[in-house]
Amino acid sequence: MTESVPVESPSTEAWKTLAGIAEGFNPDLRAWFAADPSRASRLTFQAADLTVDLSKSFLTDEILGALLQLAEDAGVAGRYRAMIEGEHINVTENRAVLHTALRRPENGEGLVPPAGFVVDGQDVDADVHATLDKVYAFAEKVRSGEWTGVTGKRIQTVVNIGIGGSDLGPVMVYEALKPYAQAGLEVRFVSNIDPSDVYEKTADLDPETTLFIVASKTFGTLETLTNARLARQWLWERLATSGAIGDSDDDRTSAVAKHFVAVSTALDKVAAFGIDPENAFGFWDWVGGRYSVDSAIGTSVVIAIGRENWQGFLAGFHAIDEHMRTTPLERNVPVLMGLLNVWYTNFLKAQSHAVLPYAQYLHRFPAYLQQLTMESNGKSVRWDGSPVTTDTGEIFWGEPGTNGQHAFYQLIHQGTRLIPADFIAVANPAHPLKDQTGDGGGVTPGQDVHDLFMANFFAQTKALAFGKTADEVRAEGTAESVVPARVFTGNKPTTSILAPALTPSVLGQLIALYEHIVFTEGTIWGIDSFDQWGVELGKQLALQVTPAVGGDAAALEAQDSSTKSLIEKYLALRSS
Ligand code: F6P
Repeated sequence: MTESVPVESPSTEAWKTLAGIAEGFNPDLRAWFAADPSRASRLTFQAADLTVDLSKSFLTDEILGALLQLAEDAGVAGRYRAMIEGEHINVTENRAVLHTALRRPENGEGLVPPAGFVVDGQDVDADVHATLDKVYAFAEKVRSGEWTGVTGKRIQTVVNIGIGGSDLGPVMVYEALKPYAQAGLEVRFVSNIDPSDVYEKTADLDPETTLFIVASKTFGTLETLTNARLARQWLWERLATSGAIGDSDDDRTSAVAKHFVAVSTALDKVAAFGIDPENAFGFWDWVGGRYSVDSAIGTSVVIAIGRENWQGFLAGFHAIDEHMRTTPLERNVPVLMGLLNVWYTNFLKAQSHAVLPYAQYLHRFPAYLQQLTMESNGKSVRWDGSPVTTDTGEIFWGEPGTNGQHAFYQLIHQGTRLIPADFIAVANPAHPLKDQTGDGGGVTPGQDVHDLFMANFFAQTKALAFGKTADEVRAEGTAESVVPARVFTGNKPTTSILAPALTPSVLGQLIALYEHIVFTEGTIWGIDSFDQWGVELGKQLALQVTPAVGGDAAALEAQDSSTKSLIEKYLALRSS
């Protein structure tokens, strides 16, 4: 196993130093900036196209030094190397963790490990690129109209059926890269087993021009398989009703062959569902669900944006992987951000972390990060099975700015909780629109509306950092009785991330950045960030409860009294 050791233990020197600093910690960002005119430049870092300003965070040289020591002690760099080289760092499943291999350029020079590396007998690079080629070829057929439905019509809508990592990644990326999508091709996403989801997403579709992608790593997920069966039923019924196909088994088989493809690691189960293995795109058990967006799981997005854009997306990931691998810890952005999160979580007792994209196209990014961060680091035992002795994980949440400003920012500005926040923005919008009339005030005629948007981005982090003192409030002529309510204490830590534009590459960079932040934190905590046993019990119990909900008296009797009475109430309401 890897040499790295968990350091989330009060016994290490760095941990003790940080605990000491945290006692009575009284951050004063106004004073820190006043005392050090170079603070912003010293604490602003570059990772590929991402400029990351940590100066408005709770970092001092002393804190940074101790955090970096923590990373050294935990062997973050060595464990990262072990990960990309294929060691089985997912110990509870005894698996390699190789999502970084999904974006290695083909035969790239200077690759580490070198091109053509083999893990557990598998030629990883060859398999990754063979699958990519298969996905690109299929996507091109759909995009060009060469691939048609069973009646010969070209595909206009792709419906991805998946859940968790087989949904959140593709939907987030599709939404983020909509400006790159081919006109006339829409992608929809069905995930919830609530039948309303599949109903709503298919209600207005023409089955003759619809292609379903069943995306499931295991091809055993109840929600996805149920939705896939509902979609198949819908296809058969709608095609038969319009007379497009007959209702023989052969008709149905040919309809499935032209309207269903799959992405999975379990190609035998794909075949059992009736999907031709020729139309199935594989990946491997060393790609975790929440790390799979850049595998064949992204096939729906490749269809939408095409090969070249997808290659740009992968290159973005790889640029950050290389940054993570080669940059010294003190300038290594994912490491620094991961360490900061440890500082906030373990020493300053922050419970949650806001992520606030100032880019409407990133509106699903917080939801995506929820799975990436919380399914990865919501653990209470270490990789050796011993219990952790400090908090792990953070509650990730957020919405795009400026919408969030008019909803929950009040609590961040003036509430009692410490909520570190990541602000993400791009300099060039996809659609530059000018306000031709302006309002004669701060907004000048002809001003780019994106400037107004960005003014909010800058203003919010400024307000959070520096606040407004009672004297400043009084100087505005505020009545004394209201002064306390209008004071902003400031000293609310933020990180600002700025990129040139939301290109496929930048999006890949952002995702990889957070993947490696999660990795850094998981390594400090000594936990396996790549398993997800915590979701299993609910799945098992759902199967056990299903007969009771279906009216099986013995199964109902076997439930605890609360569950039993809730099911009884449900059954009574249903039949009334
Ligand atoms: O929720 C648990 C989980 O296993 C996730 O990790 C995964 O992304 C999701 O279910 C979907 O799994 P699958 O792709 O195998 O259908």
